[in-house]
Amino acid sequence: MTSEEVRKLFLDYFEKRGHRVVSSSSLIPLDDPSVLLTTAGMQQFKKYYTREKDPIKDFGTQRTASIQKCFRTTDIEEIGDETHLTFFEMLGNFSFGPVGDDDPKNFGTDGYFKRSAIYWAYEFIKSLGLEIDYVTVFGGEKNVPFDEESYKIWKEIGFPEDRILKRGREDNFWGPTGDEGPCGPTTEIYIENIEIWNLVFNEYYQDKNGNLRKLEFPGVDTGMGMERLMKVSQRTPTIFETDLFEPLNKVLENLTNKENQRKRRIVLDHLRGSVFLIADGLYPSNLERGYILRRILRRLTLALKFLEIDISKIELLIKAMIEKYAAFYPELKNFDKIKEVIFKEIINFERTLSLGLKEFNRLIKGNESDSELGEKLFLLYTSYGLPLEISKELLREEGLVWKEESQKVFEELFKKHQEISKG
Ligand code: SER
Repeated sequence: MTSEEVRKLFLDYFEKRGHRVVSSSSLIPLDDPSVLLTTAGMQQFKKYYTREKDPIKDFGTQRTASIQKCFRTTDIEEIGDETHLTFFEMLGNFSFGPVGDDDPKNFGTDGYFKRSAIYWAYEFIKSLGLEIDYVTVFGGEKNVPFDEESYKIWKEIGFPEDRILKRGREDNFWGPTGDEGPCGPTTEIYIENIEIWNLVFNEYYQDKNGNLRKLEFPGVDTGMGMERLMKVSQRTPTIFETDLFEPLNKVLENLTNKENQRKRRIVLDHLRGSVFLIADGLYPSNLERGYILRRILRRLTLALKFLEIDISKIELLIKAMIEKYAAFYPELKNFDKIKEVIFKEIINFERTLSLGLKEFNRLIKGNESDSELGEKLFLLYTSYGLPLEISKELLREEGLVWKEESQKVFEELFKKHQEISKG
């Protein structure tokens, strides 16, 4: 099954069950100052959970479904392994209450809760021909009790009890995004040991001090990672061989002979992420979200250099990406602008990088103490403008480890430097 088919199956499935299909919101959140970028499907619906907005007025139903563009930066340095991504898509269904008849046969427009959410998730996964390995439920911790209801529903479905695992707050409690918002216990579906689908039962609102209060109506917020789903359904070795990346892989294959898999994955992820961010109106800058884009474009530039890919050739990669996604995300159609922003940033950074690389190779001997490494990377930063994270990436390629001591020395020197600059 292709990703295009899965997108359609998912949205049709929930539309038939009373959900209004809503387009993905922008990666730049419209009215949510708590986060820099959109990290979850529920974000555009936050105010429906808190009743500041009325779902019936806006959607004609208490139920919505979407495929949301998401961007997360917490694991940016892990990109290049088999599982991490910055940009990804999330398939989700949502309910905002008040809860009517929580019966999976109820295809109406009222709110629903755990029973319908779990039954539908189970049925949808089965309809794709996939087997669930195990599920987890919230086992209870601090002021939030064990989610016995979800446990019972899984049993009632006929799911073997020894594969319904109880987990704590760390794993099975989701949210809020940013420093406050709706949140609640989750039940999660695992296939091949990968968490595929997270079903959040938004019963609470967490305030800025971390206190929980019950929401007026409990809500549902589910999120299924598109790339992970395609990996298990297309039975590929990693997410990077799924059809979501395949057109890019083909182009990449013709652009480089270097087998550096980590760098190839960085190119796939960072280029895809940049294209989507720019299509949503973001420009690279030194501030907040603009800096996120700058960082991934710089890391992309470095990866291209390692793979010995001529910068002018990335046009082909951008084109392949846009062709793959533009039917579903029309905002990607502006190829010229996307290309221009990427090229400008890459070419600008390329000059700094070439010089910095030369100095890096001259300066780093491989036998430095931790504090010497801190000093040398600081010098590369102040004298040659080589960003620390790029230097760290270069160290990694050399098999050198950046330790806490090096970081400490770097930070101390940086602080002194700032004080001197301020006069
Ligand atoms: N908000 C939850 C998540 O991001 C489920 O959609 O995982």
